[in-house]
Amino acid sequence: MTDPAQVEIRRLPPGEVREQLDALAAVLHDCVAGGASVGYLWPFSPGDARAAFQVWAADVEQERRLIVAAFAGGALVGTVQVVLWVPPNQPHRGEIAKLLVHRSARGRGVAQLLMERAEAEARAEGRTLLVLDAVTGGAAARLYARLGWTTVGVIPNYALYPDGRPCDTTVFWKAL
Ligand SMILES: CC(C)(COP(=O)(O)OP(=O)(O)OC[C@H]1O[C@@H](n2cnc3c(N)ncnc32)[C@H](O)[C@@H]1OP(=O)(O)O)[C@@H](O)C(=O)NCCC(=O)NCCS
Repeated sequence: MTDPAQVEIRRLPPGEVREQLDALAAVLHDCVAGGASVGYLWPFSPGDARAAFQVWAADVEQERRLIVAAFAGGALVGTVQVVLWVPPNQPHRGEIAKLLVHRSARGRGVAQLLMERAEAEARAEGRTLLVLDAVTGGAAARLYARLGWTTVGVIPNYALYPDGRPCDTTVFWKAL
């Protein structure tokens, strides 16, 4: 694993989400350019990525979502979100979304550090149950299994890769 001293992980307050909008968007754009199935089809411009983070920044301001970021050498290299908005009858639940690590920073444990912090932040918000989904058999799904998440099952052809090919999705949950 990466020496935690070399990577700074922190929850971004609303003002810093706005300040880091371009850096956050650059990571999302790089992931989609690299073929990740994270909600978007190609072509996907840096402006499209920025527009997505502008919406999430508004959610952070309204306490509907929290954003955690990873910095290496001062540069933002990864991010993950916890969706805090839930229906009134699920106040104990949250959802992990948009775990993204720039291709230049992968394979060093950054995603694991991001997930550990996201789970800690969710607990601090009073959440005791988290859910998420991931491309079946991918690097993220392996990470979630390593971190103790339980597999619910696989939904065939749930989503598309950016190039339009279909991919299966695995749904996970974790009690905190
Ligand atoms: C999935 C993703 C977030 C993983 O990010 P990452 O920072 O590379 O993840 P980690 O470094 O924690 O783990 C990745 C691999 O590196 C390995 N690794 C971690 N630290 C290591 C080290 N110091 N030396 C060697 N290998 C290491 C891990 O064991 C893991 O191996 P595996 O893929 O064989 O299971 C990243 O690939 C990504 O952003 N993908 C595109 C977006 C995406 O699909 N997001 C998921 C949405 S659900």
